Amino acid sequence: MATKTPITGAALVAALCKRYNLGHPEIDAQHRRIFEIVAQADEGKPAADILRELFAYAGDHFTAEERIAEEHNVDNEEHVKAHHALLDRIAAYTCESRLMTPLVRQFLVDWVTTHIDKEDRELVRSINVGIRIQDRMEHND
Ligand SMILES: [Fe+2]
Ligand SMILES: [Fe+2]
Repeated sequence: MATKTPITGAALVAALCKRYNLGHPEIDAQHRRIFEIVAQADEGKPAADILRELFAYAGDHFTAEERIAEEHNVDNEEHVKAHHALLDRIAAYTCESRLMTPLVRQFLVDWVTTHIDKEDRELVRSINVGIRIQDRMEHND
């Protein structure tokens, strides 16, 4: 039986962008950057460097999402907790300075995409519902 070759590098970034497109241009663009950072594992970049870059960028990205939620009056408490937990995990991995084994790489992809698919998708859904309610109220005046 033929084994399936895993998607890597630019193809991985393109596949993740397509699969996890949330329909919010600013958030989607930042998620693309996160996928690009994780995909550097396929170019042989050291794990510690990738994790450090991910920590810095994810921190900025989480701040942006939290600001967007606030601008739209979305209750975001659980989402913020999830962000803190994610940063703690990256920091722990960075301290251990593990080798970027296929297992660690897969863990990062799964973990990033699970958060995007659940918490971030819910944030965008809440924003859109809020916008639609606001639209209706404005048109009913
Ligand atoms: Fe996100
Ligand atoms: Fe998030």
